[in-house]
Amino acid sequence: MADIKWLPDGQKAFDKVMAAVPEGMREGMRPKILEMLAGKAAGKKISKKIVEKFVSEDLPEPQRSVLMAALGIDKQDSSAQAASKRTKKQWKVMGKVKKADDLAKIKKLGLQLLCSEKIRITVGAASCGLARGSESVAAALEQELKKQKIKADVVMVGSNGMSYAEPIVDVIRAGKPRITYGNADSNRAADIVTALKNGKIVDDLVIMRHDEQKPAVCIEPIKYSKGKLPKTASGVKEYSKIDFFKKQKKLLTRNAGTISPERIEEYIALGGYTALAKALTSMTPRQVIQEVKTSKLRGRGGAGFPTGIKWEACSKAEDNEKYIVCNGSEGDPEIGLHKSFIESDPHAVIEGMIIAGYAIGAQEGYIYLNDRYLLAIERVETGIQQAQQMGLLGKNIMGSGFSFTLKVKRGGGAYICGEETALLNSLEGSFGEPRPRPPLPVEKGLFGKPTVINNLETLANIPLIVMHGGKWFAGIGTPASKGTKIVALSGNVAQICWVEVPLGTKVEDIIKTFGKGTASGKKVKAFQTGGPSGGLLPAKSLKIKLDYESLTKAGSLLGSGGLLVMDEDGDVVDMAKFLTQFFLEESCGKCTPCREGVKQLGEIITTIAEGRGTPDQVSLVARMGKAMNDASFCALGKTAAAPILSVMKHFPKELEKRMIKRIN
Ligand SMILES: Cc1cc2nc3c(=O)[nH]c(=O)nc-3n(C[C@H](O)[C@H](O)[C@H](O)COP(=O)(O)O)c2cc1C
Ligand code: SF4
Repeated sequence: MADIKWLPDGQKAFDKVMAAVPEGMREGMRPKILEMLAGKAAGKKISKKIVEKFVSEDLPEPQRSVLMAALGIDKQDSSAQAASKRTKKQWKVMGKVKKADDLAKIKKLGLQLLCSEKIRITVGAASCGLARGSESVAAALEQELKKQKIKADVVMVGSNGMSYAEPIVDVIRAGKPRITYGNADSNRAADIVTALKNGKIVDDLVIMRHDEQKPAVCIEPIKYSKGKLPKTASGVKEYSKIDFFKKQKKLLTRNAGTISPERIEEYIALGGYTALAKALTSMTPRQVIQEVKTSKLRGRGGAGFPTGIKWEACSKAEDNEKYIVCNGSEGDPEIGLHKSFIESDPHAVIEGMIIAGYAIGAQEGYIYLNDRYLLAIERVETGIQQAQQMGLLGKNIMGSGFSFTLKVKRGGGAYICGEETALLNSLEGSFGEPRPRPPLPVEKGLFGKPTVINNLETLANIPLIVMHGGKWFAGIGTPASKGTKIVALSGNVAQICWVEVPLGTKVEDIIKTFGKGTASGKKVKAFQTGGPSGGLLPAKSLKIKLDYESLTKAGSLLGSGGLLVMDEDGDVVDMAKFLTQFFLEESCGKCTPCREGVKQLGEIITTIAEGRGTPDQVSLVARMGKAMNDASFCALGKTAAAPILSVMKHFPKELEKRMIKRIN
């Protein structure tokens, strides 16, 4: 049999995939993964279908995508295109917004799409849904509806966060509760449609019912179930009583899994673009900035810089040309939470960007997205086109005199291109490496002009702040960390998911409530927040609060919101090796301490992991970590030793076990 070593970077691909597979599943998956990589090494064509069949239900997202990428198959590609073809076919422009009052007309039309006499069946079609076959579920539902002569719209929506239960199917019909089904295999389409026809519910698939929906920016809730509940639904738990949703604070994610991300009217139906109308018609740019300052919103890209202060600095820069840039680079290994978010609700970010442009005096904005995020790119581009057609982008928006254009820019996916000055270089078509500062981007940024760069989650908070005021926002979270945070739970958890919680929520509660503990049922040994730079924290830190101050105090980071869990069988040394190798691949090479330092760190952790390490190597890492932190040009190099240092600090026995015992 062919060996994976014959495959260029075969061992690397294998290590990468294995590190991403939850520990509890590793042994079971090992032969399958080896066989597939070996097959590829032997020259076999490994198609997406083969991999899907092979890993079927065993491997959840995002680990599945890691495997696909390691095999050189972009899993999202075809299903993303199919999904968007389906929605695009249905979409028609429903009018123009020439003045703020015109929004009401569009809202009415949008509400008819969401909840009208016609039956609406939605299928979760963010990457997690598509990876679990939502496209074929939608096709099977359409076929079955035709067969049973039922008129209904099948609409692809985003993810409601329950990635573990995808494909999620919602059945909405006038006057009845909205019924949500999970794990809706295409073979069950007939059951779902027959139950709909007979006014029944498919008991083994049902997750919950919604009697109404009240998104965070909406005044009037949508009433799904008017009056008394039908007998069949009264036994099904209501959405607001289910822990998974009850314990969240769904402000940013209010629309995810409900609206079609490719129909602007549905975003408007739930209060979308009302904040823009408010800002443009009743607030000066300075007032918008003041509200953002009052909100105490801090950047969600990792550094936690106060957004209002950044905006104010840019607004004061004297230049007629300014830019706003949305950082959707997300090059951290397999986090994907901002991907799921923007795939589900692109207009939340687009609206935030237009308001930001108005506040700082920019006429042009760029949304920088990771090139691997094909579905996100497609949906954001569609969103921009629709906003242009409606007059929400372009000249003289809502008759306010303010003009603004927006473009999507695809980044190569390098981790360093998420660093804001490297991102600017990449946007300008140069090599993605950090720039020296000063000058700061707010003084001299894109094309040498004053520029605000914000993370996409930061920007999505803006419509909420404008709608409800900075004071309201500052009432959520902790004294130093305001608002909510989107968190993606991955690794060894029973339920892979993404959720939105107030900042200050305990890590333990997130893992227990939403992840339902570890997949193996064993105790948690370690967890990681803040992406690769965050390092690993031990189980005794589980009570820590997820906010900027608590995590920094513990020597970790909030980062962009990934939360990776390892159970007691998890190998922290292997994890440190995986993360160090990630830094090695991603260092841009501009400065010596990082370029040479990560290489050495990689060699040291490899020798330790292979049982050839020595105690003097451990003390060398401590010295190198300090030198790299002092001398590296940017935060990548400064934090590259964090994974090994965190294992040295919190898991010294694991390191000792792996090292040679020297006898003098
Ligand atoms: C190596 C590296 C990678 C980064 N990746 C991202 C990223 O993917 N997304 C992001 O918003 N910020 C990232 N940042 C932080 C940005 O430099 C910047 O602080 C952020 O985009 C500012 O937006 P905010 O104020 O809204 O957080 C990264 C920083 C470093 C050093
Ligand atoms: S620290 Fe690393 S990533 Fe940052 S500039 Fe230096 S070489 Fe590049």
